[in-house]
Amino acid sequence: MRKEHPLSEIAWADLQQLSPNAKAPHLAAKDGRLFHVLLAQQFNREQLDAIGELATNIRFIAKNEGGLKFLQDLLAHKRAMLYFTQPSTRTFLSFCAACQILGVKVGEVRDTATSSEFKGESQEDSVRTFSSYFDFIIMRTEVGGLAERMAWVLSNSDRPIPIINAGSGKDQHPTQALLDIYTLQRSFEEKGGIDGKTIVFVGDLLRGRTVRSLASLLTNYRNVRQIFVGPEKLQIGRDVLDMLEAAGVKYELSEDFRKAVPLADAIYMTRVQDEWDVEKGESKRIDISKYCFGVKHLALLKPAAVIMHPFPRRGEISPEVDHDPRAVYWRQMRNGMWIRAALIAAIFRRDAAIQEYYEESV
Ligand code: NCD
Repeated sequence: MRKEHPLSEIAWADLQQLSPNAKAPHLAAKDGRLFHVLLAQQFNREQLDAIGELATNIRFIAKNEGGLKFLQDLLAHKRAMLYFTQPSTRTFLSFCAACQILGVKVGEVRDTATSSEFKGESQEDSVRTFSSYFDFIIMRTEVGGLAERMAWVLSNSDRPIPIINAGSGKDQHPTQALLDIYTLQRSFEEKGGIDGKTIVFVGDLLRGRTVRSLASLLTNYRNVRQIFVGPEKLQIGRDVLDMLEAAGVKYELSEDFRKAVPLADAIYMTRVQDEWDVEKGESKRIDISKYCFGVKHLALLKPAAVIMHPFPRRGEISPEVDHDPRAVYWRQMRNGMWIRAALIAAIFRRDAAIQEYYEESV
């Protein structure tokens, strides 16, 4: 029985040696379908198209009461544990809302000061406890690689249940990247899709996990050019550039924000991730004022381009920009709810039922 589950056939030490691409097949169910969702590298173009379509179907079905009732019955027998020991507003709430859309009941631990970890319990024991009461775990943690470790522990236990990574350390935030891709799919729906577009990433690219995961998902599209713009000290890491080179993706590095704005089909703004400062206050010494999008930049931006941000924002985008139709970050945020509902529905194999209902109701 245990052998049926992903990650039960590989030793932890061997798994850790693998590249993210090589790890990906170990996270899927035996039939290749989604099980643990930990890395952006788990998704190919076909799956990205399918999950976007599923999110759109859910979005349309949820527009009326009958549709909502149908959705709420789909996974009414499932329970989710939201284990969020790092601060979160949108990811936490959109996962909650996604669960509610599908009828999934939720439990939560948001602060280890209120759980037995405070008494010295290991995270392994905490997660095994959750698996006794819930059918899957959605986790956010500041510890890079922890979601992977927990997935391996559960897959080798008597209760192997899926783990969804809702942000781990500085390394990955795959579900944010999925909602970013969904936002790009929707934005460019009548403009030839994501293929051939130029995506400009701005800000703290070194420590921002959303950028790392999205840069990886974008390698699934043809002729996408990625431009990384930020102060030298916060420029994108070598591992991301190696990944892009291996995938044959064109990229550029720049410190010139003004020059990059007119090149963008999508501009992806990010905040300084100062919680990762090694020396207290070190980010304050970096001048980021040149990497903020203000009203004056709107004139430089292509008429069909979009402005995105994973949020929370601080000064990177002036609120006055919100009124421009190219500012899609609020829609991007709401997309998180639909794409997370689609992801959960796909893991628990309700995608065909949703598709069928959608086709009957349009
Ligand atoms: C991001 C994160 O947590 O990495 N937030 C989010 O989930 N939308 C981005 C950030 O905190 O800057």
